[in-house]
Amino acid sequence: MTTHRATATANTNIAIAKYWGKCDTKLNLPAVPSISLTLDGLSTTTTVTFDDRFPKDTFTLDGTVRSGRERERVIALLDGVRRKVGFLMRAEVTSENRIPTASGLASSASGFAALAAAATHAAGLRPSARELSRIARRASASAARSVFGGFVELPAGTRGDDRLAAKALSVGDPWPLRMVIAMTTHAEKAVGSTEGMERSRRTSPLYQAWVEQAPALTRRIRIALRRKDLETLGLAMEQSTMAFHGCALSARPSILYWNPATLAILEAVRDLRDRRGILAFATMDAGPHVKVLCEAKDAPRIKRALGRVPGVLETRIAAPGGGVQVEP
Ligand code: DP6
Repeated sequence: MTTHRATATANTNIAIAKYWGKCDTKLNLPAVPSISLTLDGLSTTTTVTFDDRFPKDTFTLDGTVRSGRERERVIALLDGVRRKVGFLMRAEVTSENRIPTASGLASSASGFAALAAAATHAAGLRPSARELSRIARRASASAARSVFGGFVELPAGTRGDDRLAAKALSVGDPWPLRMVIAMTTHAEKAVGSTEGMERSRRTSPLYQAWVEQAPALTRRIRIALRRKDLETLGLAMEQSTMAFHGCALSARPSILYWNPATLAILEAVRDLRDRRGILAFATMDAGPHVKVLCEAKDAPRIKRALGRVPGVLETRIAAPGGGVQVEP
């Protein structure tokens, strides 16, 4: 009887410069560069156990055994690790999201970063952060960024080149920023990001323009980070958000990720900015929740304002978080 086990925890991240679209679907390489902020306390903890008595791979998430595409994506990552070490053993994968239940924020980012770390360590590998990021990227590109803490960049890929990994961006002295998260539904998203970006790439007349302008936007965000210029950073994040949602909206059939509460929050954020002079900037991913980037000192006031918007179910303040951790 042989058993190999490891547990890892990874935080989720929110993109400031958005990833939307792939230049290589087989290797899962993004067509555009992205920059994100890893968030503290919104995490996934995953335990991987390889055992020669297991007849097949199993994947349990938040107490429910998963099948279909969800399980296949996990197995694809396990297969890559098994190939590397010459393992034949099947695995039991158990994940728990420490993200408000059914918030729809449970992104694949924290999940696949934690899985990559737990699976490699259980198999006896000790990969560098870069290598771990590369393994996570093949499963889900946003997961490549969750390997690192703070601000993280994942460059655009080059078709056929599997080496792509994310890297941490150093911003010098600490910058006390926060993301205020406003949740607007408990429902699962209708169109997952993988499918949404593929449909955008194939059918949206705006897709090519998005890919062409994304590097300049990312450059602006990188410079704003270096200068700690929240206004430039926030406005560029909003532009990146609207540009990728424009691709989704103009896809065929159209993908609309927002609900009425999303728009009401956007209006509240503009009001805070324009009428009260608070630096607050909004972003949405492949779902209707809104995340507001701001300075730490303004976060409680923004949280209160968003909590009053009709349709907002829950609000929470998230601070920047660290990279993936493997339990000793
Ligand atoms: C809108 O990383 O979930 O959140 O690589 O297909 O797994 P796959 O996609 P995924 O896409 C995330 C898209 C986004 C923007 C972002 O996080 O950059």
